[in-house]
Amino acid sequence: MMRRVALLTSGGDAPGMNAAIRAAVRTGIARELEMFGVRHGYSGLIAGDFVRLGAREVGGIIDRGGTMLGTSRCPAFLDAAGQQTAVRQLAEQEISGLVVIGGNGSQHGSLALSARGVAVVGVASTIDNDLVGSDVTLGATTAIDVALESIGRLRVTASAHGRVFLVEVMGRACGYLALMAGIAGGAEAIVIPEAEQSPEEIAVAIQDAYRRGKSHAIVIVAEGARHNADALARHFTEHAERLNFELRVTKLGHVQRGGSPCAFDRLSATLLGATAVERLCAGEHGILLGLAGGRVTATTLREAVGVSKPLEPQWLHLAHVLSR
Ligand code: ADP
Ligand code: F6P
Repeated sequence: MMRRVALLTSGGDAPGMNAAIRAAVRTGIARELEMFGVRHGYSGLIAGDFVRLGAREVGGIIDRGGTMLGTSRCPAFLDAAGQQTAVRQLAEQEISGLVVIGGNGSQHGSLALSARGVAVVGVASTIDNDLVGSDVTLGATTAIDVALESIGRLRVTASAHGRVFLVEVMGRACGYLALMAGIAGGAEAIVIPEAEQSPEEIAVAIQDAYRRGKSHAIVIVAEGARHNADALARHFTEHAERLNFELRVTKLGHVQRGGSPCAFDRLSATLLGATAVERLCAGEHGILLGLAGGRVTATTLREAVGVSKPLEPQWLHLAHVLSR
């Protein structure tokens, strides 16, 4: 029977992680479980850095970005030795269930622990939205909102000067954040790894925008695109005389991760955090929880990790049509 359950947050922090921790802890307490947090992701698991979590310890965090438990990138966990130590630490604390709140890499870690006999339930949480089994992962919607605020401000100044702005957004190898921020932010062009374009094609789109009477051009560029903001800026600068537009570059970077979770992320995180503990109590593990079609979905970790998630073709089509 499940008596002690631990939670950890791993990889890039995402708005909503705290709401998931809060919901998992309070659900566990309602089930008369002893709940523990692991500090700093897999590093803390290897080090045995556990902290007992009661209802009050997770108070006042639902609206906070980041993670109260801390997170890490932990190369030591990639090795068998690190994973064995982690399993031993869990056994020493008599912890029989683990909730891993994190992105694609972190869920690889969940799979590794699961293969070593640990009962793990993952919660899909990353601003990148690169996990299959979820329409959208925790934190991605808030990250889009944060990007939109900056895009709105950049448009004001771009328009005043008649300039082109290359705005680079995060997302690792996935273009989801760029595509959504670009569509919702009314970008003139969107550059993503899933639909690569040459710098010249993007230059044509920019010149076309001016020809159609626009006073500026906002180009949203995914950091994972082959021609990211630096590559595009290099090309446009080399050909500045011929292209004849004034260019500025803004990389939104980590600012996108630091937002207070929006209503959708708070509610989704609450649902997923609570469900993770419920599933462990029901004897289900080796799964990744996400949201699809407004419902909680469970995908086996084996199916969920290491697979690239395709973008919805309709959004790609709309991005093209709407930039006119
Ligand atoms: P995210 O979870 O946000 O995608 P990372 O890719 O950095 O972030 O992964 C977070 C951590 O998960 C890594 O630092 C590592 O400790 C662990 N991890 C990543 N890939 C694997 C893997 N293939 N096997 C075991 N653990 C992994
Ligand atoms: O995975 C989340 C993410 O923010 C990616 O979008 C980005 O490429 C990466 O993390 C940045 O990592 P770090 O915070 O380690 O610089």
